[in-house]
Amino acid sequence: MILLVASRMSRCSSAFGIPPTSVTRYLTKLTTTTRTTTSSTLASTSGRVSAAVQDENVLARTGDGEMSKTKLVPTKLDTNPPKGTRDFYPEDMRLRTWLFDQWRDVAKTYGFSEYDAPVLESEALYTRKAGEEVTQQLYNFLDKGERAVALRPEMTPSLARMVMAKKGGLPLPLKWFSIPQCWRYERMTRGRRREHFQWNMDIWGIPGEEADAELLSAMVHFFKGVGLSSDDVGIKVNSRKVIGEILTELGIPAEKFAATCVLVDKLEKVPLDAIQGDLQELGLDRSVIEKLTQVLTVKSVAAIQDVLGEDSPAVQQISKLLSLCEAYGISDWIVFDASVVRGLAYYTGVVFEAFDRKGVLRAIAGGGRYDKLLETFGGDPTPAAGFGFGDAVIVELLKERNLLPSFDSVGIDTVVCAMKEEYYPTALKVATKLRQAGQNVDLVLEDKKTKWVFKHADRLGARYCAVVGSEEYENGEVAIKDLTAGQQVTISVESLSTWVEEQS
Ligand code: HAM
Repeated sequence: MILLVASRMSRCSSAFGIPPTSVTRYLTKLTTTTRTTTSSTLASTSGRVSAAVQDENVLARTGDGEMSKTKLVPTKLDTNPPKGTRDFYPEDMRLRTWLFDQWRDVAKTYGFSEYDAPVLESEALYTRKAGEEVTQQLYNFLDKGERAVALRPEMTPSLARMVMAKKGGLPLPLKWFSIPQCWRYERMTRGRRREHFQWNMDIWGIPGEEADAELLSAMVHFFKGVGLSSDDVGIKVNSRKVIGEILTELGIPAEKFAATCVLVDKLEKVPLDAIQGDLQELGLDRSVIEKLTQVLTVKSVAAIQDVLGEDSPAVQQISKLLSLCEAYGISDWIVFDASVVRGLAYYTGVVFEAFDRKGVLRAIAGGGRYDKLLETFGGDPTPAAGFGFGDAVIVELLKERNLLPSFDSVGIDTVVCAMKEEYYPTALKVATKLRQAGQNVDLVLEDKKTKWVFKHADRLGARYCAVVGSEEYENGEVAIKDLTAGQQVTISVESLSTWVEEQS
């Protein structure tokens, strides 16, 4: 569905490494290589030919008529989804729904309301200039109306847009959550792909650490709910105010704050030399980053206090957050780590990241406070904090710890079948009665042998099998076998709803 949009790009982003003119050439090439001879009609229309049109052309030319002189071999469809994306077959879908249900339950338990936004957004929503990876990984293109659009790489800018659209009309504080599919042209590694679903929990309108702590508590609630403990997962917390204070002390202007944070975050993955060019562009002295990284290796609040002083707002903020976490009873999950900065430009204060204690998997979830984001869009200053929690890493972790339930069962209560075609209307009536009484019913839609029906019911994990045979048909009844207990009863079709009630 959404992938179709990407495949019809009229302009590719720099992330694809293909300039727009080459894209046109590339598309034209595709057209001409699929057809071994050029069809003037096709070539002349627009230079872009849909797969459906190409297929039609291939069929016409492989028939018996005049056109079959040009023998075309149909290209076999590549059945893989585009690189980095996933198909969700029913079993995968059951897992996905299960995970989303866990997220939704926690969100509701914490008083959050669900919202959504389009997956396609205006590209301008993401044109931040701090050198973030996420903006370089944008799936962006011009639509048919020449509008610069992008598939959302994250939900936070959409949320900000939605809040801003209401022009202060939303009662604050608001606690909203969503589970959007996000798109990033990522380098593929374990737990990182080109599309993922991301549980977002955000609180707007609360400037204090109470909001940050509430978010951390919700995250822990989820971890506990799926059977993970603080031995499996930890949450590193820090505040970007630490960097802010050091930069102020060094006389670095405030407008360099966001880009410096993004650079410091990159140092987790690359050596200092690799970001030399970025440093120069930012007009930062190498010694500034060296000083910052030195402070950020510190692992205790006391040590940070030694550097920043007792009155440091950063230290006070972290201390307050930690004491709130203690009051929530989640201290065993929380690890203060000054090196956690996060790669997104808009964070201003507390930042946090959930991690696998074994250190094998990528970040499980991440978030923080972004009090200035709305201002960067021209809105009123509004405090906000939140987190994003991807579906990929957590499923890996749950699989590894054997904490995933089985998704084999389709969730069918009863399989209903008629032993002869003429009994089918009665079987259909049985299915309808059972469905009206609240059961999930699979009605066998064709003539099948009883042996097949029982095997089928077993494969679906159904509890009952309801069969309409000649006797049952004559008497307006149905024979129902309990596949677990092995017992069989014959019930009048009219009293099926009472039978369902008795079973539950
Ligand atoms: P983020 O750290 O970019 O933050 O992403 C949050 C989480 O989404 C990550 O920790 C990871 O679980 C998942 N994730 C991100 N990229 C990928 C990927 N390519 N493949 C699989 N999973 C991925 C944000 O997006 C912020 N907007 C979160 C936020 C919400 N901050 C405040 N509110």
